Amino acid sequence: ATPVIVAIDGPSGTGKSSTSKAVAAQLGLSYLDTGAQYRAITWWMVTNSIDIADPSAIAAVAGKPEIVSGTDPSGPTITVDGVDVAGPIREQDVTSRVSAVSAVPEVRSRITELQRTIAGSAVTGIVVEGRDIGTTVLPDADLKIFLTASPEARAARRSGELKGADLHTTREALIKRDAADSSRKTSPLAKADDAVEVDTTDLTLKQVIECVVTLVEEKR
Ligand code: C5P
Repeated sequence: ATPVIVAIDGPSGTGKSSTSKAVAAQLGLSYLDTGAQYRAITWWMVTNSIDIADPSAIAAVAGKPEIVSGTDPSGPTITVDGVDVAGPIREQDVTSRVSAVSAVPEVRSRITELQRTIAGSAVTGIVVEGRDIGTTVLPDADLKIFLTASPEARAARRSGELKGADLHTTREALIKRDAADSSRKTSPLAKADDAVEVDTTDLTLKQVIECVVTLVEEKR
């Protein structure tokens, strides 16, 4: 069988990661968290004291860090220049800066290239989650899903995951990040015309997983 390519996009806190990992594991596919890659390059910029407010400073070093993603859905990994950054990329100092870094075209082009290489080498197929996978990274994906949820549901889910923030702060930060991601010039967060939209506000994670698994099986 030819590899199946699944793109899952949507704003933060819609259950993209949990859904994507579970669907990949259940169907024996690889899994790629593209947000982790943008967080990883942001972590490198912060660690190397690059001025985040200066897009040209970011662009000048965008090609420097070597980012490697492990695509096993039961234990995805992420390293920068050989350093395991799975923990640090979830901290506030990275989360608050990732939208600015990911808006820089030089950052996007090199991370996009990396994503296409990884997707192209998946033997059975891959579930790729992000913001611009269906629109830009993998426009020929076999299945495109766009997950949504109310801001309240998204903030509640995220505050359970991220360290060091209360619900109100999380909600405000999340809305700000989505607005930045949706309004940037280069491949903003957007639903592809041919994506299936799933509103997860009133669904359990199990229901969302079942829904996506069924849609993938129809394509196989
Ligand atoms: O998915 P996650 O919340 O970890 O993504 C972190 C950030 O990475 C997003 O807010 C966005 O700025 C950026 N991102 C992106 N394109 C993707 C995935 C993530 O710009 N495909």
